[in-house]
Amino acid sequence: LGSAVTALEQLTRVVSDFPSAGVVFRDITPVLADPGGLMAVTQALSVAVTQPFDLVAGLDARGFLLGAAVAVHTGCGVLAIRKAGKLAGAVIGKDYSLEYGTGRLELHPDDVPAGARVLVVDDVLATGGTAAAACSLLIQAGARIAGVAVVMELVDLGGRARVEAATDAPVVAIC
Ligand code: PRP
Ligand code: HPA
Repeated sequence: LGSAVTALEQLTRVVSDFPSAGVVFRDITPVLADPGGLMAVTQALSVAVTQPFDLVAGLDARGFLLGAAVAVHTGCGVLAIRKAGKLAGAVIGKDYSLEYGTGRLELHPDDVPAGARVLVVDDVLATGGTAAAACSLLIQAGARIAGVAVVMELVDLGGRARVEAATDAPVVAIC
C-alpha cells in the first residue's frame, strides 16, 4: 500500500478546468504509465477489500485498465460495465449523473453467474454516481457486491454516501 500511495502522490497530474470549467481533475494516467506505479496500484486494489470475490467489474473506461489487472492478480474474470451503445446483444442499463455531466452504463446480465460476488473497480470516486449505478446494475443482474475498490476518493464530493446507498458492501480507496 505504501508504494501505491507514494506513486500516486508523486505521479498524479492535477489539471484545472478539465473537462469543464471549475473541475480540478486528478489524472492518474502517469501513475499507470509507470511500471512500478501500475504494479503497486493494481496490487493494492487487489487486496483492498477483504471480502472474497469471484469476479471483477471494471467501469468504462479507466476502470477497464485497472479491473483487468486486478482480475489477473486475483485469478478472476473481468466484466466490462460500459457506456451506452457499446455492448452487443441483450443489455440492462442505468442512467446516472457524475461530477461533470450525465451518462448511462450498461451490462451484459448473461455474463454474471447467479450469486457471483463481484469486486467493482474504478480509478476515481467523485460524486459516486458512476459506482452507484454500476452496483445497482450488478445487483439487478443477480450479483452480490463484495466491495468497491477505487484508486482515489475525492472526499469533498461525497461519493461514498451515494455508493453506500446502493450497496452495503465496503467502499475502499487507496488514497
Ligand atoms: C470518471 C472516472 C469515474 C467517474 C467518477 O469517468 O473514471 O468512472 O468519472 O465520477 P463520479 O464518482 O462523479 O461518478 P468518466 O465518466 O469521466 O469516464 P472515462 O473513464 O471514460 O474517462
Ligand atoms: N479525476 C479523474 N476522474 C474524475 C475526476 C477527477 O478529478 N472527477 C470525476 N472523475
